[in-house]
Amino acid sequence: MKLRTGMLDGALDKEAENLNSSIKVDQRLVYDDIQASIAHVTMLGHVGILRENEAQAIIDGLINLKDKIINKEIEIDLKAEDVHSFVENELIKDIGQLGKKMHTARSRNDQVTTDLKLYLRRESQNIKELLKEYIGVLLELSENNTETIMPGYTHLQAAQPVTFAHHLMAYAMMGLRDLSRLEDFRQRANELPLGGCALAGTTYPIDRDMVKEYLGFDGLMENSMDAVSDRDYVLELQGVISILGVHLSRLSEELIIWSSQPYSFVTIDDMYSTGSSIMPQKKNPDMAELIRSKAARLIGNMNQSFVMVKGLPLAYAKDLQEDKESIFDSVDTIKICLQVMTGQMKSLKVNKKKMLIACKEGYINATDIADYLVNKSIAFRDAHHIAAKLVKIAMEEEKTLEELSLDTYKKQSDKFEEDIYQAIDLKTIVGKRNSKGGPSKEEVKRQISYVREKIK
Ligand code: ARG
Repeated sequence: MKLRTGMLDGALDKEAENLNSSIKVDQRLVYDDIQASIAHVTMLGHVGILRENEAQAIIDGLINLKDKIINKEIEIDLKAEDVHSFVENELIKDIGQLGKKMHTARSRNDQVTTDLKLYLRRESQNIKELLKEYIGVLLELSENNTETIMPGYTHLQAAQPVTFAHHLMAYAMMGLRDLSRLEDFRQRANELPLGGCALAGTTYPIDRDMVKEYLGFDGLMENSMDAVSDRDYVLELQGVISILGVHLSRLSEELIIWSSQPYSFVTIDDMYSTGSSIMPQKKNPDMAELIRSKAARLIGNMNQSFVMVKGLPLAYAKDLQEDKESIFDSVDTIKICLQVMTGQMKSLKVNKKKMLIACKEGYINATDIADYLVNKSIAFRDAHHIAAKLVKIAMEEEKTLEELSLDTYKKQSDKFEEDIYQAIDLKTIVGKRNSKGGPSKEEVKRQISYVREKIK
């Protein structure tokens, strides 16, 4: 059935029909559409808009249709205009004229946004579960690396020593914020639009609260025009997913750097690497690269959603049909990215030695030489100068700061004693950075318990 009323002459132009049709995209809402219709018809029967036996026959028909789709006894008809007309057509085919009564006291305008909310509510929960698994793997990896010293960078230049656990826990914290944004989304989105009808409610004595309870919404959308034209929840979820995607992208970028030969801090498992068609030695971090670029796609989807809504007058306009393809794509994309990143991190090999060598070769304990002198009452300006001089000497002699002789130290300042080696020992330096949020072992363990508690 095409939704052509007596008003319209003839059929829709062929290409116009293709443009108009959304079934290829919105068919995935079919179960939500059936569920929302069952709720609606149950209410219609309850308040007496339909007779109880009519309502029951429609509900039975809807359940039957659902089973037939699940059991693949029936296929989605791609010639239908959209998922709502598909469901209605099939119902009428099955139970006859009575099926036409299902659409009393509602419109596709409140119907479609109700379906989409049901779908996104469930998918946001699925994303949350995948996100928790990902954070869980970051915690495990961190637990095993609270003493794995690595260079911390600013400007991608070795800056001060941290631990691999400390570095990973930064990503765990981002994940926690992503979780709370997903919860926030759900809370605000969980208001029922159905009952808004086309835009101005209805003259029928509907009971929206009953439908709300039936479908598990926390509240009603209180204005019927807002109910049918609001897509804030799509924009919000696009934003939440984009931020999460950006976090995964930044971690991907680090994995790409860390696994490159000059670094070799980590080895990405073969399960997540590909080879080159001509260069036999190559092992490429393709999954990390793809996750990095999927973030661009998510941001593109988010943009599309925002731009689609921004100039629309109230209430419904067909533009809003275009809300689905991009949010569905974002949901699919973030789910696969999370899954792959979780597996990739779980199987990651950490090359502790390489990290330590990079610390030493990066002279990242130079600040601590200066601090040592300050403790021996040298002014920081002078101490900084002396430390810089020592770094220069070490570079010239192709040595690390630990390898310079005490004589060399003493030549720069008579304040240096044997204990300088203890003072610039990387383990000591990291251990002393025990301010809240810092990289010391105890402090990172506290961060791990904090996150573990939050994701319970
Ligand atoms: N397929 C449409 C959508 O996704 C359903 C709503 C159609 N409503 C209308 N007034 N044409 O938005």
